[in-house]
Amino acid sequence: MDSSRISLRPFKLSDADDLLIWASDDKVTSYLRWHTITSIEAASKYIQEVAIPHPWRRSICLDDRSIGYISVRPESGSERHKARIAYAVGSDYWGQGIVTMAIKMAIPIVFKDFPYLVRLEALVEPENVGSQRVLEKVGFKKEGFLRKYGFNKGEIRDMFIYSFLSIDEIP
Ligand SMILES: CC(C)(COP(=O)(O)OP(=O)(O)OC[C@H]1O[C@@H](n2cnc3c(N)ncnc32)[C@H](O)[C@@H]1OP(=O)(O)O)[C@@H](O)C(=O)NCCC(=O)NCCS
Repeated sequence: MDSSRISLRPFKLSDADDLLIWASDDKVTSYLRWHTITSIEAASKYIQEVAIPHPWRRSICLDDRSIGYISVRPESGSERHKARIAYAVGSDYWGQGIVTMAIKMAIPIVFKDFPYLVRLEALVEPENVGSQRVLEKVGFKKEGFLRKYGFNKGEIRDMFIYSFLSIDEIP
């Protein structure tokens, strides 16, 4: 994938049709905490009520059309040095290096946008090998295995925890 075709930008209400293509796919949401979005009304509501007000949620765009997202949510108060990162891209685009490219673009922006941020964290289910590979390619360090840590789709699941610090280098 030509990196000049990939960009990150805030969501717009006009992304609803494009968002519905990837957000309605159970393959995309199975490792995410949110459920598939199945109508254009729900896609518009999600953009207006979740994506736009989010502290940092960007659309991953191919030729400026939304094909996925990255979100970073910093904690508050004395925990504001930490933030959790999450991401997905439509299944038609898997395996083309797009999320790797998008996270590499996001990291310097996020550390600039949140000056107190020191540590980005990612939680990944053991079966989600593609996501672990992405984090390794981007320079995240695998720190441990958290038993029965995350609640997702009605189940309490094991998770690997990864981190990237503000002093770390993107390979
Ligand atoms: C996981 C996901 C984000 C990866 O995005 P992507 O754009 O396909 O990732 P990239 O192409 O940049 O890299 C994927 C890497 O994983 C590898 N990979 C993918 N599936 C794999 C598998 N089942 N076994 C081994 N390697 C796998 C690819 O070969 C590639 O590595 P390589 O470049 O060394 O060949 C994407 O599949 C997705 O959106 N999944 C659904 C949502 C999700 O799981 N989000 C993360 C929650 S923690």
